Amino acid sequence: MKVLKIGGSILTDKRRIGAARLGEIQRVADEIAVNPEDLVLVHGAGSFGHIPARRYGLPENFNPEGLRATHSSVVKLNDLVIDALCKAGVFAMPVHPFSCVLLRDGRIDSFALKPIEEMVRDGLLPVLHGDVAMDATRKAGIVSGDQIVTYVARALQAEVVAVGCNVDGVLFSGEPLRELTRKDLPSIEGALGGSAGVDVTGGMRGKLLEMLDLADAGIMSVIFNAGTEGNVLRALRGEPIGTMVRRPN
Ligand SMILES: Nc1ncnc2c1ncn2[C@@H]1O[C@H](COP(=O)(O)OP(=O)(O)O)[C@@H](O)[C@H]1O
Ligand SMILES: [Mg+2]
Repeated sequence: MKVLKIGGSILTDKRRIGAARLGEIQRVADEIAVNPEDLVLVHGAGSFGHIPARRYGLPENFNPEGLRATHSSVVKLNDLVIDALCKAGVFAMPVHPFSCVLLRDGRIDSFALKPIEEMVRDGLLPVLHGDVAMDATRKAGIVSGDQIVTYVARALQAEVVAVGCNVDGVLFSGEPLRELTRKDLPSIEGALGGSAGVDVTGGMRGKLLEMLDLADAGIMSVIFNAGTEGNVLRALRGEPIGTMVRRPN
């Protein structure tokens, strides 16, 4: 089983609301179509999620209208991704985390994964995304695509976990690190930031912390540039591109 994430930084212009990059969405879909078997796809919310979330003060403020507007906006992006995959000949189906995830203190507490497993077994490609979600202790919250990747990869014991974003990996002194473990965190902490665009889930820092949790559970992942042509294809083949996040020896 493989888990692939495509960042909102690739699929949208994160500085402008609802700004889908249709050309990039189709290119990524075409690369996935070469090898769509045994795969769970997760995409980021990009400007479809982060901008309305910030506008309504989510997740700190419980705001029903904000929840509805943010969810309906990310569903639109999900629709575009599904359409592109269908055009590329992949049987893609939407899975909206708002309807199947419960958070507790901002972390996934339960997740109805059985339909996802069944889809994969039957040759369908489930397509999940960053979303708003109900939270047992905080009423509601935001579940990032990055957190979904970590949870699903661990629960389904994924062999390949690839997280695509708009940079060549975790950059340190302008260069992507080839590999990274939790031991390296203190020395690179200063170089780790949020996002260049609007991102309420912590940009690269939030992403790396998720991937380190996954490494602690014994599952290796890569953070790679999904904006470089051919990289999605390479990542799905399990090639070591970008930054490999693993458990210390
Ligand atoms: N050390 C770092 N290495 C790479 N990217 C970093 C680093 N520090 C901050 N960033 C920012 O994190 C961004 C990637 O995170 P994010 O915007 O959340 O992507 P995505 O939409 O794919 O989740 C990069 O585009 C960059 O602006
Ligand atoms: Mg992000």
